[in-house]
Amino acid sequence: MEGLALAAEARPSRLFVHTFGCQMNEYDSLRVQRLLAQDGYTLSSDPSEADVIFINTCSVREKAEQKVFSLLGRLRRFKQRKPSLVIVVGGCVAQQLGSALLERFPHVDLVVGTRALGSLPHLLRSLRGGTPRVAHLPEQDEEGWRELFGLTDTWRTDIVAPVTVMQGCDNFCTYCIVPYVRGRERSRPSGEILREVHLLVEKGAREVLLLGQNVNSYGRSLDEKLRFSDLLRMIARETDVARIRFTTSHPKDLTEDLVQCFSDIPQLCPHIHLPFQAGSDRVLERMNRRYTAQDYRRKVDLLRAACPEIGISADVMVGFPGETEEDFLATLDLIRDVRFDTLFSFRYSDRPFAAARLFPDKVSEAEKARRLTELQSLQAAITLEKNREEMGRVRPVLVESESKSKDGLMSGRTPQNRIVNFPGSPALKGRIVSVKITEAYAHSLKGRLLDEECSDTEAALPNRPFAGTELGDHGP
Ligand code: SAH
Ligand code: SF4
Ligand code: F3S
Repeated sequence: MEGLALAAEARPSRLFVHTFGCQMNEYDSLRVQRLLAQDGYTLSSDPSEADVIFINTCSVREKAEQKVFSLLGRLRRFKQRKPSLVIVVGGCVAQQLGSALLERFPHVDLVVGTRALGSLPHLLRSLRGGTPRVAHLPEQDEEGWRELFGLTDTWRTDIVAPVTVMQGCDNFCTYCIVPYVRGRERSRPSGEILREVHLLVEKGAREVLLLGQNVNSYGRSLDEKLRFSDLLRMIARETDVARIRFTTSHPKDLTEDLVQCFSDIPQLCPHIHLPFQAGSDRVLERMNRRYTAQDYRRKVDLLRAACPEIGISADVMVGFPGETEEDFLATLDLIRDVRFDTLFSFRYSDRPFAAARLFPDKVSEAEKARRLTELQSLQAAITLEKNREEMGRVRPVLVESESKSKDGLMSGRTPQNRIVNFPGSPALKGRIVSVKITEAYAHSLKGRLLDEECSDTEAALPNRPFAGTELGDHGP
């Protein structure tokens, strides 16, 4: 293994970050940026001028892993052009492959496991001091955990700020690699989370998105006696955050106290992401999901009884080993019954460590593709129908940014998590405004600004006669 000594530089080191995967990776990348800022790094948006490139990786499906390999391959020429460049790979592929990544990609300098990101400043300093390339994958890194999660300052914040409340997963669904690459479930103490939410709000966040692979089991690993619903109530009571969301929920752990939160915490957005994965009990059992399709339907009924307007999204996969046409039809039935607002659908792929990789009766890629197309066209029709039902309604929208299509529109979300674009000024960013929905598309809505300042509770009241002037109500 060769050492790597970098020339002393007068200017601050520049860091380029690319993140694959879920919101938990996004959060970790923000924390890494903050940690390295303490060591004098500044963020760069151009990889060719970076001194350190940090790639945070995802391994959940085969395709995700391939994307990582393809990017790492492309980085080779950056290193050829600038030999002092340090390339660091973190996240789930790093944890999965460890030193095999160093062997396969000789231009990668550091591989850092999912529980070791807090050690990154120290590892980078050592590398710069001449220590050899290394894969650092501790099972549990107490110091690193404290470094990463105990930060009493935030790097920067957006209007919607992610906050990881728990790491890891103990569920071992048989298709899933996450428990193997993220380790055992571990919750953060409530005091630490509250402090972070306070700080984020102080810096301009209006909404927090609480993150974990299975937030419903929050608290199980803590000394304090606290359920996830208690944590939600504490955040609502003790901070000034305007909106709270969370993801992901596991149906087996969705308890009545949590369902109740949707009817009595005004800041909690009426939206839940509740993956169901399959509609056939036989498949659900072999996935080790520990609920039946009927249990799932019942949970949806409970949610809708507590909060009739709740938006429901989910994950589903097709082509799990042994999935028959009949099983697949049961999945379509569940989709028709529940009428999800949005659905994220995947083709099953074998993952290292996950038990289902050894299951017999694999479904062919062609069959998976056919099932996925059929499922997606059913859902596309439902999504569009539900989006059309929004037309004419008035929704409170938290304005997040200029719209992606760069057509002068502003963009935000309804409490149910629908994207709304509308003509308005960038000065509205961070405000909750009232928008009348005028058009519906496959993935978003278009609307007209009615009121430049309102709260979710005010605008959520049915038939609220718009008090005062209809500011900005001048039509598109
Ligand atoms: N913790 C979350 C999901 C994490 S992974 C939960 O429990 O719901 C995100 C989604 O990826 C999963 O919901 C599942 O639909 C999909 N997924 C996970 N492993 C997969 C695999 N091997 N093949 C295809 N899709 C997979
Ligand atoms: Fe994977 Fe299941 Fe854990 Fe979700 S709950 S991360 S799907 S093992
Ligand atoms: Fe991917 Fe790891 Fe998240 S596998 S989905 S980045 S936990």
